[in-house]
Amino acid sequence: MDGVVVGPRQDETVGARGHDARVLQIEGLRKAYGDVVALDGVDLDVQAGEIVALLGPNGAGKTTLVSIVAGLRKADAGVVRVDGLDALARSAEVRRRIGLAPQDTGLYPVVTVRQNFLLFGELAGMSRSELHTRIDEVAEALALTDLLDRQAGQLSGGQKRRVHTALALLHSPRLLLLDEATTGADVETRGHLLDLVRQLATDGSAVLYSTHYLAEVETLGSNVVILDRGQVIVRGGVDELIAAHAKPVVELHFEGPVPDLGLDGSATVEGQLVRLATPDPAATLVEVLPKVPRDSLQSVEIVRPSLESVYLALAGRRYDEADREQTTTSEVPSVPAR
Ligand SMILES: Nc1ncnc2c1ncn2[C@@H]1O[C@H](COP(=O)(O)OP(=O)(O)O)[C@@H](O)[C@H]1O
Ligand SMILES: [Mg+2]
Repeated sequence: MDGVVVGPRQDETVGARGHDARVLQIEGLRKAYGDVVALDGVDLDVQAGEIVALLGPNGAGKTTLVSIVAGLRKADAGVVRVDGLDALARSAEVRRRIGLAPQDTGLYPVVTVRQNFLLFGELAGMSRSELHTRIDEVAEALALTDLLDRQAGQLSGGQKRRVHTALALLHSPRLLLLDEATTGADVETRGHLLDLVRQLATDGSAVLYSTHYLAEVETLGSNVVILDRGQVIVRGGVDELIAAHAKPVVELHFEGPVPDLGLDGSATVEGQLVRLATPDPAATLVEVLPKVPRDSLQSVEIVRPSLESVYLALAGRRYDEADREQTTTSEVPSVPAR
């Protein structure tokens, strides 16, 4: 499938003084698990201050990608650089620059939330005083202040997810990797998380985060990379992608069987629903409605194009709830890279 690249061109990422704004550079990344090709030649950059949403259906390779960048899995081929440092050759330095909240949450359950923070902060090389200030800041931002002295294992799922994500942010990493951080989070938690992500980006970090919530990506106004079957099929800003790939759709819902409206090939029929993609919904309605028999039409809707439409146009299927991954909460810490 053809992909358009509407992100910054390579030569624009190097500033006048030769300073490279790319925090993350991925080139030709490949990874197979036996016969299953999870990543099939992925190129991807994330610049300082940029938030990139990594979208793709279940099994697209998002977790594999994020895990390789964080040094938790080994690629078969390709290069990963963080701040220009080769992630394999300089793994210790690279890991210190990365904050990772993996898809499966892992906290030390028998100690308090604060002790979890202290432990991870020390592992990330933070000083005690720096750590205390930052714990207060992050806890405040994620509404965790009242939970700091609770045992981590006793928190609710949403609370655990907040702590889990807070751990990744604690040392203000150069590169923040969030793998489905907002999955299962309530609206308020999601709001807090996104605010914090925005703040980190404003302060100059690069953020790569996978999510299944397209509306969230639209709100954030982040750039988007759609991964499908281990390949990047498109990259760009939300508005650019919508303008390039999606049209408004007129939806006609019928009672009973869809009547013959003499529609052309651009119309699709799904059960009792007819969808007409059109640049001019009003003109299309005026044209079609006179052909509709009385009493058979149940409702008419004009659907504005969204990221969902882009996804539908490019991946050929809906990005719906069924695609969402089951995210588990384990009691076993699984996170050497923070
Ligand atoms: N540890 C593993 N062993 C074998 N196959 C795996 C493993 N992890 C992922 N896969 C496979 O690789 C593909 C990509 O998976 P993953 O990176 O988890 O995708 P996503 O996070 O986008 O759902 C899938 O087909 C998945 O089944
Ligand atoms: Mg995943």
